[in-house]
Amino acid sequence: MRLFLDTADYDEIRTAVDWGVISGVTTNPTLIARAGQDHETQVKRICQIVGDVSAETVTERKDDLIVEGRRLASWHPNVVVKVASTPDGLAAGKVLAGEGVKINVTLCFTVNQALLAAAIGAYFVSPFVGRLDDIGEDGMQVVRDIVVAYRAQNVQTKVLAASLRHPMHVTEAALAGADVATLPFTVLEQMYKHPLTDAGIERFMADYRKTQEPQPAKR
Ligand code: E4P
Repeated sequence: MRLFLDTADYDEIRTAVDWGVISGVTTNPTLIARAGQDHETQVKRICQIVGDVSAETVTERKDDLIVEGRRLASWHPNVVVKVASTPDGLAAGKVLAGEGVKINVTLCFTVNQALLAAAIGAYFVSPFVGRLDDIGEDGMQVVRDIVVAYRAQNVQTKVLAASLRHPMHVTEAALAGADVATLPFTVLEQMYKHPLTDAGIERFMADYRKTQEPQPAKR
């Protein structure tokens, strides 16, 4: 399973790229607003350092979405155009996919929406786990079901588990067979953490330091 960062914060992306563990980024209008940068400038900047950078459309009608999607895709070859799981979003996504643009169908909450994403030749489908959990549903079960349905139907669209809120979501997405998990920087940091790792380092360092101390002469 590939790991993506779910942020538009350049410094976070730079850090995670330097750690060597992420191979893509997902953004949305909320994350772009939080980064406080112009959309085009920020996406182009991110594309300089990592591939598969999802940039979201913000128009609603098919024709407008096609024009907008072409504009986003023209920014950089690494751009993946996000369209929402609506009739217009999917219709525009199909036209764009036919032109060779990579499409990420976002705001997916059901297996049927994922089947529609597959039908238009989407590159990614993004089931939103946390937002389903927020309304008392089992978001990860939707990811599991999409993976099973896609395998049964030999679908090429990749399952990108999104709206992940904690490290267990990442583990569960991997066990579900998701192709990608996109996670906030804080969750990526948490993935490294274990108290036994910290305690082990402390002990090894203490023992190493002992070997550097002058040893009493042997008789
Ligand atoms: C990813 O593509 C989504 O934009 C993101 O994961 C949404 O996460 P949220 O539900 O925590 O806002």
